[in-house]
Amino acid sequence: MKPKQVLITRAIPEAATDLLKTRFQVEVSPHDRPLTRKELSKRVRGKAGVLCILNDRIDADVMDAAGPQCRIFANYAVGYNNIDVQAASERGIVITNTPGALDHATADLAWALLFAAARRIAEADRFMRSGQFKGWAPMLYLGQDITGQTLGVIGAGRIGSTFARKGRAFDMTILYTDTKRNPELESVCGAQYADLETLLKRSDFVSLHVPLLASTRHLIGTPELALMKSTAVLINTSRGPVVDEAALVQALKSGAIRSAGLDVFEEEPRLHPELPALQNVVLAPHIGSATHATRKHMGLIAARNILRVLNGEPPETCVNPEVLES
Ligand code: DGY
Repeated sequence: MKPKQVLITRAIPEAATDLLKTRFQVEVSPHDRPLTRKELSKRVRGKAGVLCILNDRIDADVMDAAGPQCRIFANYAVGYNNIDVQAASERGIVITNTPGALDHATADLAWALLFAAARRIAEADRFMRSGQFKGWAPMLYLGQDITGQTLGVIGAGRIGSTFARKGRAFDMTILYTDTKRNPELESVCGAQYADLETLLKRSDFVSLHVPLLASTRHLIGTPELALMKSTAVLINTSRGPVVDEAALVQALKSGAIRSAGLDVFEEEPRLHPELPALQNVVLAPHIGSATHATRKHMGLIAARNILRVLNGEPPETCVNPEVLES
């Protein structure tokens, strides 16, 4: 019998590719960029499983292009807003993601952005490289205190609560908001539940950790930014469209908030045209999960999910478990 065919839509750490190669005929995209729609539709054809990345829009057309033998799209990400899950369920296709693998890496990156924005690290780095340093100066790059301040965490799932717990090391008061309470977070680090308005008004630092859903699109826009302290720092490592980028640019320009640290953008890879010129924003190219160990872990989860599903077993992680029951 011919081995089943699997597509990897962009090169990922070798361990995951090698694992898939032990059982399947594996095709890895040769391009160092996301596949175009046309290329994706062509390459998925005849595949039993697809390991896809968050830049791939996996909709009904792509699933139909793959064909009826296709059993699984394993997303190489925890977020899966790039996939039409309902269309997959209607076709009996399993969708998996990588929860748990990237909690610390993403939380750490959120902290890195928070520190960089509060202590103006990127601005200071640019200053040094441009040869302007003339020695210690009393008023050079004054920033904000972090220790003892109030941290507002929006979304207290795996990544949000991992991020929040680290705030204890800096003696911070931790506020959080979510659609439901997280009793474990409350008991582990004394986090206090607050509604969004209270959190925005009281926090010195606000960090976003929600999935992109219809209800979270532009969760932070002009009215929410207006509630924040004029000294506040906003951090986003979740999904770009959770923040109204044009409203944020305005708030950063007018001084409605002090600064921001962004790892995700509304229309990646495009940036709002005014963002790069603003000194009070730190920009990163969607690298929340980008550590060697985390990316390997994500790849292995995705690969094992494909192995299991194509072997008739339930995957380790699944976002549409109803498909497994049918
Ligand atoms: C995710 O997993 O959703 C991140 O955005 C990329 O690793």
